[in-house]
Amino acid sequence: MTKASPHIEAVFSAKSLSLDLGGREVLTNIGFDLKPGEVLGIIGPNGAGKTSLLEILSGRYQPKTGKVIYEGKDITKLPLFERARRGIGRTYQTPIVPEDLTVGEAFKAARQAFRPWLTRFDAEYGAQLVNFITTHDTHCARLKTFERRKLLMANLLMRQPKVLLMDEPAAGLINAEIDEIDQILRMLSKEMNVGVLIVEHRIELLESIADRVIVMDAGEVIAQGELADIINSPAVRAAYFETA
Ligand SMILES: Nc1ncnc2c1ncn2[C@@H]1O[C@H](COP(=O)(O)OP(=O)(O)O)[C@@H](O)[C@H]1O
Ligand SMILES: [Mg+2]
Repeated sequence: MTKASPHIEAVFSAKSLSLDLGGREVLTNIGFDLKPGEVLGIIGPNGAGKTSLLEILSGRYQPKTGKVIYEGKDITKLPLFERARRGIGRTYQTPIVPEDLTVGEAFKAARQAFRPWLTRFDAEYGAQLVNFITTHDTHCARLKTFERRKLLMANLLMRQPKVLLMDEPAAGLINAEIDEIDQILRMLSKEMNVGVLIVEHRIELLESIADRVIVMDAGEVIAQGELADIINSPAVRAAYFETA
């Protein structure tokens, strides 16, 4: 694992984000910086607020307070599609593919989702990055979880995003598949300089991949740093291993 150099500017930052849902504060004062080429893990037990945070970062929710900064600009008010267009890719906890389309049709829809329309070569490039080799006449409905995740990643990567926001990319995968996802993310971050934020509830899954982690519990950041250092912190142990 290489560490991002301290002098490199963040490509993506959250500043003092808070969020109310259903009349309750589910996020309180969340902040972080993500540098180009860095893999930042966000961990926390179920219900900690990880997905809600991604909803703000990707543009589906507006925060109650705080800002989202991308390439030095305040993008807090930008809608989801505009963030995608500018190079912020997002994946979801459940990989939902267009069930009525074939793989080839799904790639075409992704190429033409917004301008500039991309070529088949761009789509092929995205597919190669994630080693997605399924034939184009396969119906998306028939794809297994791993292939679904790869199809969706290929669709993002063909546009060469600068930031990837991933919600539990290992969910539903077996160990060999998780290893392959880790390799892909390592290549994207370390060789292509993409800033990768990975949300995960299983601490051990971030060990081999994250340069740095942020631990959330009940909507707040309770620890951050290198995984090896924070894993034994009392707050983290209490959130994960002890019941009140
Ligand atoms: N749409 C919603 N309306 C009200 N409460 C919600 C909504 N979505 C999530 N929550 C609540 O916000 C908290 C954080 O949820 P979530 O962001 O899904 O956590 P995580 O992804 O860490 O499991 C939970 O207490 C959850 O019940
Ligand atoms: Mg979640």
